[in-house]
Amino acid sequence: MTDDVSRNERIKEASNYLRGTLEQGLREEITGAIVEDDQQLVKFHGLYLQDDRDLRPERTRKKMEKAFAFMIRVRISGGVLTPAQWLALDQIARDYGNGTMKLTTRQTVQLHGVIKSNLKAMMQRIDAVLLNTIAACGDVNRNVMCNPNPHQSRAHGEALELAHKISDHLLPRTPAYREIWLDGERIAGGEDEVVEPIYGKTYLPRKFKVVLAVPPSNDVDIFAHDLGYIAILDEAGSVTGWNVTVGGGMGMTHGEPDTYPRTADVMGHCETRDAVAIAEAVVTVQRDWGDRLNRKHARLKYTIEDRGLDAFRAEVERRAGVLLAPAKPFQFTSTGDRYGWSAGADGRSHLTLYVQNGRLFEKQMSALRRIAQGHDGDFRITPNQHLIIANIPVEKQKEIHWLAVENGLLAPWSGLRRNSMACVALPTCGLALAESERYLPDLVTALDARLAAHGLSADDIVIRMTGCPNGCARPYLAEIGLVGKGPGRYNLYLGAAFDGSRLSKLYAEDIEHDAIIAALDPLFAAYAASRQKGERFGDFTIRAGFVAATGNGRDFHANVGKQRV
Ligand code: HEM
Ligand code: SF4
Repeated sequence: MTDDVSRNERIKEASNYLRGTLEQGLREEITGAIVEDDQQLVKFHGLYLQDDRDLRPERTRKKMEKAFAFMIRVRISGGVLTPAQWLALDQIARDYGNGTMKLTTRQTVQLHGVIKSNLKAMMQRIDAVLLNTIAACGDVNRNVMCNPNPHQSRAHGEALELAHKISDHLLPRTPAYREIWLDGERIAGGEDEVVEPIYGKTYLPRKFKVVLAVPPSNDVDIFAHDLGYIAILDEAGSVTGWNVTVGGGMGMTHGEPDTYPRTADVMGHCETRDAVAIAEAVVTVQRDWGDRLNRKHARLKYTIEDRGLDAFRAEVERRAGVLLAPAKPFQFTSTGDRYGWSAGADGRSHLTLYVQNGRLFEKQMSALRRIAQGHDGDFRITPNQHLIIANIPVEKQKEIHWLAVENGLLAPWSGLRRNSMACVALPTCGLALAESERYLPDLVTALDARLAAHGLSADDIVIRMTGCPNGCARPYLAEIGLVGKGPGRYNLYLGAAFDGSRLSKLYAEDIEHDAIIAALDPLFAAYAASRQKGERFGDFTIRAGFVAATGNGRDFHANVGKQRV
């Protein structure tokens, strides 16, 4: 490896396939943290070292170590859990975590606040219910997402099956996880191709995210991800093949125009039997072509911007030994969830619950425990941080319905709140510049008052907030996007498409609560007064000239300012 690679590349290479000095670090009692290099490696094991930022000032004053604790992200491809798995995660959150659970925008569960000395016991409990946290974070393929809505049963089943196949195929093979967490047998690191045939010693240049969508729902936000598969259906609702998308990604850095969110390109169409080979080829081309010098330029989206889609496609086809056909027509209508009851083809019913920002507190957790204890269907986490209780037999429906009603798990009436989403941010996320999950509910209340004044309360408008520009709640694909700039301050983005196909544009910079409302109120008024039939808020803000439409990639930062307030 040459001298100018990024620091993370050196850490990976020296780690002996993700072992580093984690085992020793876990035993070290003098600190609640682990050494810096291991902090990077532990992500590949699904863990993030964090500290409670609410407690930082006091602990600094008292000259105490930061209140270190780990965040744990479980690997749940397609977001489907059995009731036993749900109950185990609930128990772990209460025994070892901070007593809450976060359903995430990528269909997993995150638990916060686990101290180092409890990590190993926790990982063993996760393993005992046949779950793991391998590659939930880190420079590897992460959790594979898939439309979880069982009312589209046939295509959904096929998509979930492919999601599992891709997930399994792209899983790191290093035995480090079993060794460190599960006291597995020590296996010495061998040749690259033996230990990690797909990734090699240094894994990928950056994280990698795969999703599968079943139109007309784009709930997975396919265009936000590195690699995506859009199901092409026949008239009977069976999958005939997949359009393949590449090069989506959200993250950017304030003030650095070379970084930008990008919507994925549709690269072509493949048969189901070739989908895994295509996934492997996309991963290995990115492994070899991706930028290992600059982590801010290392995602697949930049590889495709730099090399061009045609060259990328040709190399993928060559490596996979598959020629992609031209993409087939498809149509998405929305990115949101369908709340409430829906009936499956087999007569069973499914209930989509509303979980504000994906955060479950004890009240909701205990209701869900009761559901899980008497239920043999499954729990499906949606890409919008909500939860579907699937396959509910008729005799259970009333009880489950009332548990949901009594515990605030039915969808709210406001169209804005139904379509709101926030990342974690403070107090756990070390990268947060501003509040997100703890603030968005109040902002929505204030905006709802303005929407009500304009008769827009019931209209579906997508609003998303993140505490920093990394974009974990995909704010650049929201009709109203708010991205943290500093404490209490946000950039406001407008003009994304309701179906998730077009990015937004910066509209107002570095504004506080009152200014956010003052900026949006006249837009709501104009929308109520002059929208066309069926016109979505995001489309309206463009037609009415409030923001320019964003094309792709570098265009995100273009034409900003001329329409700004
Ligand atoms: C450069 C980019 C990024 C970095 C460094 C980053 C880092 C992080 C960190 C540290 C957390 C943990 C926060 C906490 O739980 O306290 C987190 C959460 C999360 N991130 Fe990211 N992230 C990035 C971009 C993204 C993007 C683009 C997505 C999705 C498209 C994403 C998806 C998630 C999800 C699903 C969570 C869990 C919480 C939630 O649902 O909001 N991240 N990220
Ligand atoms: S968007 Fe930023 S603040 Fe929010 S969870 Fe992701 S990294 Fe943290």
